[in-house]
Amino acid sequence: MKIIKVLKGKDRYEVYSGAESFNLLPKLIAEKGLNKNILFVIDKNVIKFHSERIKSVMEKFPGKNNYYIMPSGEKYKSVERYNSILAFLADNNYGRDSLIVAIGGGVTGDIAGFVASTYLRGIQLVQIPTTLLAAVDSSIGGKTGINFLNRKNIVGTFYQPDFVLTDTVFLDSLPEKEIISGTGEIIKYAFLSDRDFYNDVNDSFDSIISLNTKALNRIIPSCIKMKAEIVTEDEQESGLRKILNLGHTFAHAYESYFDFKIKHGNAVAAGIISSLFLSFKKGIINKTSLNYFLNLPSKIDYECPNYLSKSEIINRMLSDKKNREGKIKFILIKNIGEILIEAEADREEIIYAIQNTFIPRSSFNKK
Ligand SMILES: NC(=O)c1ccc[n+]([C@@H]2O[C@H](COP(=O)([O-])OP(=O)(O)OC[C@H]3O[C@@H](n4cnc5c(N)ncnc54)[C@H](O)[C@@H]3O)[C@@H](O)[C@H]2O)c1
Repeated sequence: MKIIKVLKGKDRYEVYSGAESFNLLPKLIAEKGLNKNILFVIDKNVIKFHSERIKSVMEKFPGKNNYYIMPSGEKYKSVERYNSILAFLADNNYGRDSLIVAIGGGVTGDIAGFVASTYLRGIQLVQIPTTLLAAVDSSIGGKTGINFLNRKNIVGTFYQPDFVLTDTVFLDSLPEKEIISGTGEIIKYAFLSDRDFYNDVNDSFDSIISLNTKALNRIIPSCIKMKAEIVTEDEQESGLRKILNLGHTFAHAYESYFDFKIKHGNAVAAGIISSLFLSFKKGIINKTSLNYFLNLPSKIDYECPNYLSKSEIINRMLSDKKNREGKIKFILIKNIGEILIEAEADREEIIYAIQNTFIPRSSFNKK
């Protein structure tokens, strides 16, 4: 099992990553002296596939011990669901001496984290990510939140968990489309890191998709380590952390434009492609680099519809919470590990990037 430290000082916490690490939950909670009154917030599909395992671990806790089943889907990251979890805690008389254990993907982790950060002004939290995307990204860094008025993550907090436990055994039941979506965020890390990791992700793409244990045990901790280093440097996203949003300005607009029918990681891959085209259009990379870099994100499929309203997509980007003074901020790629933040672009350049993203690129080496 690998142990990765996140943040410093009193806010420091560990991410434990490895197969079968879930069995260590009671021991870790006891060792860290965390609260014994626990609410497990568990994704519906996770309980469906892993009920025996989860129940056998839950039985080992002596205190108040309930579970709340979180329905599956982005639409449940809502105010209504937030109210419902709060009501469950209040109705069952959970006090300040409580702990929420979130077992699920990014949706469960984000909403359970938001509940933990606000119920009685904050109770303890443990994150147990069960999707690839949550394992490499959303469970680390302390961003919690819900969607509001059809806009993603616009209500939330920065609230660090007491620890994160990533058990790759949970991934065994993950549908392929979710694995591919998680790979979208892994590709983001490939661009943020160095050539060795980039080549590793490129060469291991098929092994990641087929959940090859050796590949996962190498790639997942590397991504966690990268995110841990970045958020340790910049917890509140005032500078460096912004690089984690690579591809996301476009991706959020694409998700919303396609009515969330495109998975987050697929939208991130499309967003990275847009960032590459924008970097090219602005003269930051040349044609050779563009073609080379397009190879990796192009391994992830997304639909290229016949008609696309570029204006509508730009309008959605204009409402992105990362904008300042009404200007859309982009993250551009100069090279692997050389990322430019807060870049601006004119309308014609943005349209070029969007247009080229949705042209099927069969000429690239899609696997
Ligand atoms: N907080 C952050 O820093 C951060 C970062 C990135 C993304 N996010 C958020 O994460 C969310 C996306 O997360 P996600 O991709 O994990 O989606 P998700 O939580 O919706 O999970 C995807 C699907 O997989 C199912 N599932 C989960 N674990 C499973 C398992 N082990 N076996 C079988 N099925 C399983 C779920 O029921 C769901 O249907 C978005 O809401 C996004 O905004 C947050």
